[in-house]
Amino acid sequence: MLEELDKIQQAALEALASVKDEDTLQAWKVTHLGRSSGLMQVFSGLGKLSKEERPAVGQGANNVKVALENAFVERTNALRQSELARSLEEDALDITLPGRAFRPGRLHPATQNLRRVIAILSNMGFQVFTSRDVETDEYNFQLLNIPPHHPAREMQDTFYVDAGIEDDTYSVVLRTHTSPGQIHAMRAYSSTNPDNPPPLRVILPGMCYRYEQITARSEVQFNQVEGIAVGEGITFTDLKGTLSEFARRMFGQNARTRFRADYFPFTEPSAEMDVECFVCGGEGCPVCKKTGWLEILGCGMVNPIVLQNGGYDPTRYTGFAFGMGPERQLMLRHKIDDIRYFWGNDVRFLEQF
Ligand code: DAH
Repeated sequence: MLEELDKIQQAALEALASVKDEDTLQAWKVTHLGRSSGLMQVFSGLGKLSKEERPAVGQGANNVKVALENAFVERTNALRQSELARSLEEDALDITLPGRAFRPGRLHPATQNLRRVIAILSNMGFQVFTSRDVETDEYNFQLLNIPPHHPAREMQDTFYVDAGIEDDTYSVVLRTHTSPGQIHAMRAYSSTNPDNPPPLRVILPGMCYRYEQITARSEVQFNQVEGIAVGEGITFTDLKGTLSEFARRMFGQNARTRFRADYFPFTEPSAEMDVECFVCGGEGCPVCKKTGWLEILGCGMVNPIVLQNGGYDPTRYTGFAFGMGPERQLMLRHKIDDIRYFWGNDVRFLEQF
């Protein structure tokens, strides 16, 4: 009987040595340690043995069981180790594969163009003055010579801000244009020396907001770049020269400009500046609506009332101001027919710039 146990053990260990994977290992366990294995039959046959034989065979069978169980655990661990080694070897990172390219980000087209406008005007001597997006009605309208109920308010539908002031719904607004920055800038400069305020040359770039129906031609938010120059002896000639030079630097050395009389409450006289259509060269096309000219900005000599509101004595100082929409310029230049692309965040649009 003890010999029989020896054979069982040897056969089992031999079989185990050739086991190469998890499945065969489980099968081996069923065959050699399972209920109907030779070893288990020895256990169940113990009762039929004589009293003398029983202890030794029982002891021997137990030893074989322990030995096989230990061998099973060992084999399991060994198999796992070699599987790990194999996968490290075969599934390892292949450094010869090409890497995954990063998609480089870039500035939004509106920001690109805004910076271009700022760069040109900075080179021409204008300093950037940053003004607030949330304004009071006083700065956004009244100090710019647009009193309550002035018809000019009709053109700038306004977002009113609930500033938590009791019985007040209409005194705080999102700026509808960058022009209120004119007052902030003038006051900042004139307050440094009220008797003899220094000449002022600033540009005011930033986002403006209007309560408009969003369509292909109008958005609720857009950038403007405002400019203002105040000093002694500034005339309309300075306005024309400065803005024509801006147009040449912005649209090309041959860019022709023309000024048409217009009306703004904060300037007197006021004008619109057109540049010759850079799409058709002035011959007339759908972009310039067959006129040969594109309207680029509004401008004028700063109204004496506005100068006064800014702390400059209008009998001594004069100035000019202008305001333009960089997104509009970009639309004209690239024939973008829908302003909603700008804030729609569609990469197919953004990637083109
Ligand atoms: N604030 C005007 C607008 O949003 C643009 C403008 C026109 C600004 C004439 C100026 C100016 O400074 O002189 O329509």
